[in-house]
Amino acid sequence: MGLMYVAEKARSILRGLLQTYGIKSMKRSLWNVEFSRGRWDCLESTPGDVVYGCIEKYANKGSILDLGCGSGSTGNELDATAYGDYTGVDISDVAVERAEGELGRMVERIKTSIFRQIFPITCQLSSST
Ligand SMILES: C[S@@+](CC[C@H](N)C(=O)[O-])C[C@H]1O[C@@H](n2cnc3c(N)ncnc32)[C@H](O)[C@@H]1O
Repeated sequence: MGLMYVAEKARSILRGLLQTYGIKSMKRSLWNVEFSRGRWDCLESTPGDVVYGCIEKYANKGSILDLGCGSGSTGNELDATAYGDYTGVDISDVAVERAEGELGRMVERIKTSIFRQIFPITCQLSSST
């Protein structure tokens, strides 16, 4: 029990260090592995998330940029009449593939763009209402 706790704690600290100081490819791999193993399946459906009301209020029919969009639940579940367009970006290919499937209305997968230089991302999803 004590040993398991220490091992889990060490793993968690290592993950945090990797996420903070690791190189881009390592971070991407880590998120890809976690998404593939189902660690983030709990985020695939989050209807009524407490932040949605706030986002919808302040979107003011404008554009939403979702950094770290994961498998696309936010883009999928927000009231589409509250914003003009939604762009989700994520470092994980696995998450982006799921988001594409979830959103269905994905229109573009970019290879290179200004986003790629600013943020360590692999893909951009765009969807217009
Ligand atoms: C905890 S998940 C949250 C996903 C989503 N926002 C949601 O609420 O369902 C964090 C997400 O951030 C992404 N992420 C982490 N670091 C990133 C980075 N440097 N650039 C882009 N995405 C990143 C991960 O791949 C993951 O999908």
